[in-house]
Amino acid sequence: MSDVPLQGLRVLLGVTGGIAAYKSADLVRRLRDAGADVRVVMTENATRFVGALTFQALSGHPVRTSLWDESAEAAMGHIELARWADLVLIAPASADVLAQLAAGRAEDLLGTLVLASKAPLAVAPAMNQQMWAHAAVQANLETLRQRGVRILGPASGSQACGDVGDGRLLEPAEIIEMLAAERGPRPFAGVRVLVSAGPTYEDIDPVRYIGNRSSGRMGFAVAAAAIEAGARVLLVAGPVDLPTPAGAARIDVRSARQMRDAIIGAAPEHDIFISAAAVGDYRPQSISPSKLKKSGQPLALELIQNPDILAEVSGLVGRPFLVGFAAETDDLEHQARDKLERKGLDMIAANRVSTTLGFERDENALLLLWAGGREELGQADKRSLARTLVDRIARRYAAGLAAP
Ligand code: CTP
Repeated sequence: MSDVPLQGLRVLLGVTGGIAAYKSADLVRRLRDAGADVRVVMTENATRFVGALTFQALSGHPVRTSLWDESAEAAMGHIELARWADLVLIAPASADVLAQLAAGRAEDLLGTLVLASKAPLAVAPAMNQQMWAHAAVQANLETLRQRGVRILGPASGSQACGDVGDGRLLEPAEIIEMLAAERGPRPFAGVRVLVSAGPTYEDIDPVRYIGNRSSGRMGFAVAAAAIEAGARVLLVAGPVDLPTPAGAARIDVRSARQMRDAIIGAAPEHDIFISAAAVGDYRPQSISPSKLKKSGQPLALELIQNPDILAEVSGLVGRPFLVGFAAETDDLEHQARDKLERKGLDMIAANRVSTTLGFERDENALLLLWAGGREELGQADKRSLARTLVDRIARRYAAGLAAP
């Protein structure tokens, strides 16, 4: 990514009332470092958390807080300001401002500017996790989403109030990355992408299961990168503890057979299927209805094979473009090419599993293989690796469409 990915972008930044408003100061600095021209509008509540002078110093321009400021209106009228913006970004966006936006109310300067601007609107919500989960907040978000508003985040984690959960403001660096990615090429505009991610769990009895060490992070990063590239994404996730990438639809499953049903049901509606899940190959022949007790004797579990989801999708008439993953400890390229051919895939992303790479790690490296080609994607964090992978998938997919 270039050093000035937002060069010349005119950002009208709305800051609303919430403790996360302090992070917006850093956001302004980073937006400017990324090449953007920033004008800040604060709601009255926001000024209780951070002083307007801070934003004035960081943005290099006077900060507006009211519709009724005559000197500000004389310098640049609010309608002029609304027209000036290439992007309206509200960060943090409180529950209250989301409600105001959903209702289209122009009761203060920020609400008025949003209605008066033709620029795209992006909001980065921040609030207590209980508020975030409230049906009213979710309904407002859905209204905004349907109107084409870009929802950035929120992140998950510990909150200023002591709670833990969804509702943290995304880090300023992440917001910049998302905005930058949107300005880049969108090779997946109009493309429907199905992604599977995470492990599967096969129950043994009511308290035990057979699982694997997949964290789901690679698949979630691929889903996020596909959204950035313009795709409509459905994510089928095994048991993982990860927030849904903004803009993705999600189905949660547990076992390989549940994952199979979700994927087979959705595959006909999708152009591309990226199978990043680590699907368990075997399950116990039967699940014990009560907890197994130790008997002093060795215990043998009878395992039977699970359906191979990818191979089944490969056999569908009018199947989507197929991308598989292969995690191998030995003989990576040979094993992966064998899987590519055996399962009838368009592309496979292979990675070596070791103690420093692959499962449960933030970094990964991939070897991409397709019929007649290969490319190594060197070690990188899973987010940037996912972006490169999505770019390569888009190229192969486009090449396939172009071929007769
Ligand atoms: N896969 C699948 N269904 C399964 C097993 C795997 O759809 N029951 C998919 C995975 O999501 C991955 C690819 O197949 O994209 C390869 O997975 P992997 O477990 O490496 O391959 P297997 O076919 O299970 O081969 P093996 O166990 O022999 O290595």
